[in-house]
Amino acid sequence: MQRVVTRRAFSGIQKLPKRQYSSSKPDGTTHFGFKEVPAVEKENLVKGVFSSVATSYDVMNDAMSMGVHRLWKDDFVSGLNPGNPKVGVQTRCIDVAGGTGDIALRILDWAREKHADRDLSVDLVDINPNMLEEGRTRFRKTMYHNTPQVNFFVGNAQELSPEQFPSNTYDLYTIAFGIRNCTSVPDVLREAYRVLKPGGTFACLEFSKVTNPLFAQVYDAYSFSVIPILGSILASDRDSYQYLVESIRKFPSQEDFAQMIRDAGFHTAKGEKAWQNQWGGIACVHTGVKL
Ligand SMILES: C[S@@+](CC[C@H](N)C(=O)[O-])C[C@H]1O[C@@H](n2cnc3c(N)ncnc32)[C@H](O)[C@@H]1O
Repeated sequence: MQRVVTRRAFSGIQKLPKRQYSSSKPDGTTHFGFKEVPAVEKENLVKGVFSSVATSYDVMNDAMSMGVHRLWKDDFVSGLNPGNPKVGVQTRCIDVAGGTGDIALRILDWAREKHADRDLSVDLVDINPNMLEEGRTRFRKTMYHNTPQVNFFVGNAQELSPEQFPSNTYDLYTIAFGIRNCTSVPDVLREAYRVLKPGGTFACLEFSKVTNPLFAQVYDAYSFSVIPILGSILASDRDSYQYLVESIRKFPSQEDFAQMIRDAGFHTAKGEKAWQNQWGGIACVHTGVKL
């Protein structure tokens, strides 16, 4: 693809139109952590969580995972190997629910360091302006500031505006620790499929099901006792971190999520090859290709 960059970088966070979307259950409710709530309310509840944690999000991620989330994210991006050494060929990436930019930054660094690629671009999309603002501040300290390599958008993963995110546009779609917060996972997958080019890759890093029962017990004990306390001490916000732990338990198993990806039209590897567990299934990478 020829390198054509028409949008200005760092021209401010670009807003997208608001929308309503469908419930995940016939009775119009969905889960918000372990609570059942009207589906139309979940988006605002999730926004409240991330507005509340935005300024402490990066510190809390390190504290909760003892830095391990960095390894998961490194692994995720290195496995995707983004970038292209050919001059004049631009790889277009979209990082949805991109938050403070952990994945976008890794993608850009990987392309530059491994492929000498300074043309790859990432559109970073998140529903929460507070999280995006943290990301923008962070990018100001990097070499990507004021370059066309990164753009920020307020947007809903479940309905990406076709004007800003036309169909068949991206080579790589990433979503890390974001999809479980969305009210309708099928809607997110449908949009991912739409915006990817044929041959483009969908890649999701998400908390998942721990496969070893003994390890699962230890992990449960840690998550439910330590993480909300850390949230309370470091972020003065126990409830948001209680939600984050609960939301992990409500997310589908590796197998079920792989099937949802296939149902959205993506080609995946067969059986358990469709995903790669990290740390025994605490986190998991799913990929699919748009045919
Ligand atoms: C746990 S953070 C992950 C941030 C980043 N991807 C990372 O790995 O550090 C989840 C993000 O998903 C965003 N989010 C939640 N629901 C969303 C939606 N429907 N559309 C887009 N972003 C959403 C939140 O605002 C938050 O920034």
